[in-house]
Amino acid sequence: MSEGYGYGKVILFGEHFVVYGLPAIASALSGKTIAKVEDSDKFELVDNRPETPGYKEKKKAQQDDSLRRIFEFMKIDVEKSPIRITLSGDLVAASGVGASAASCAAIARALNDHFNLGLGDEGINRVAYEGEKGYHGTPSGIDNTAATYGGIILFTKGDPPKMERISMKNPIEIVEGNTGVTSDTKTVVEDVAKKREENLEEFEKIFSRAKEITEEAKDALINADAEKIGRLMDENQELLRKIGVSSDELETLIKIAKNNGALGAKLTGTGRGGLMVSLTPSKELQEKVANAIKEQGFGIFINNIG
Ligand code: PMV
Repeated sequence: MSEGYGYGKVILFGEHFVVYGLPAIASALSGKTIAKVEDSDKFELVDNRPETPGYKEKKKAQQDDSLRRIFEFMKIDVEKSPIRITLSGDLVAASGVGASAASCAAIARALNDHFNLGLGDEGINRVAYEGEKGYHGTPSGIDNTAATYGGIILFTKGDPPKMERISMKNPIEIVEGNTGVTSDTKTVVEDVAKKREENLEEFEKIFSRAKEITEEAKDALINADAEKIGRLMDENQELLRKIGVSSDELETLIKIAKNNGALGAKLTGTGRGGLMVSLTPSKELQEKVANAIKEQGFGIFINNIG
């Protein structure tokens, strides 16, 4: 039996803009997806990951497509060499945590081991990127890169993509709030593209500020300057609102976090559902914001970045 892992992630700055070649910053989470691969008499996928209700069912067709792409890319014939893949781990499968990328990286690692393919991290990341296409259509590559390598990364899409590691002076607490709504990345990315076509001039201004925000955030993260990181997160959210990817639930979560002292709050990932991330330096503040969100009936994830 072979095993592989992939990290969950939170996009701190630059989601959506990253699709257009602008830099973005993601931090891996401690939560992981684990994939086990073993010989079987027929091909089987057993998905035991914890989930936001409805997530796995909604993503089933995309997951099948993703697996097909992974097998094809790795030249694995599961008819000839039937296997059972079992997914588990402590990463909750939900929109916004990079669940699809974490599972692609985990599966790639386990298959690499099982079939002795000799791939290193770069090769695993390539496979995970192919797998992500089943979920996203045209993924930027930020999710699979964070899922494969872990840590905090500054990512710019390309062939090959650019990745720079960011090392923080000290870790900072975050709280994520879960809208419970599963959104479809492909649809939302397409909607943004449509809106951009109709508002080219406005989008140019938005993109140029988005780039500056990510660049300023890189320095603020290195210095663990929580006030500044928070301010930049708020400003990033303002731009995400303008491109039409926020939602009532996300705005409610942002309001709760900010009213309870979070230094910054924004949607993370696709938006229109999924997760909100807020910066809550200190255990006390983290607990206060987490409790306030829970009291309003939303799910939470607590974590550190750095
Ligand atoms: O929803 P997530 O966590 O899979 O993130 C999607 C990020 C986007 O920038 C919207 C798309 C992409 O391919 O980078």
